[in-house]
Amino acid sequence: MKARWLTVSAAAVALFGASQAFAAEMPPLAKKSGCTACHAIDHKVVGPAWMDVSKRYAGDAGAKDKLVNRVKTGGKGNWTEVTGGVPMPPYSPRVSDGDIAELVDFILGLAK
Ligand code: HEC
Repeated sequence: MKARWLTVSAAAVALFGASQAFAAEMPPLAKKSGCTACHAIDHKVVGPAWMDVSKRYAGDAGAKDKLVNRVKTGGKGNWTEVTGGVPMPPYSPRVSDGDIAELVDFILGLAK
């Protein structure tokens, strides 16, 4: 029994390691909040890749406030060249302010 568990956890580690190598994983909070329906880290889905968002705002001291507001109230026209003009839906109060701040911190941290 013990040996079997070891095999299972070794397989899990191998799988997790592999998925990390091929594509950056979205955090559980992004999945729970519904962001993964339209965003991935390294490629466009409906919305822009979060890595591209992070690169665009790197070095912008006001980026956190700006992006927190965009996630709360929605946004449009900032990524038209990537999305063809699809708007980002408003997420407040569906997602709490604390969770939105955590998601924006995660996004801005990607390009660092
Ligand atoms: C229905 C699809 C959809 C969902 C769900 C979605 N987004 Fe977006 N998101 C978009 C689109 C489309 C844009 C580009 C909007 C634009 O052009 O201004 C965008 C843009 C963004 C931006 C960049 C804003 C800017 O002005 O540069 C951030 C940050 C972002 N989304 C975060 C999130 C987070 C966090 C969630 C989950 C709470 C989420 N998105 C869920 C479609 C979505």
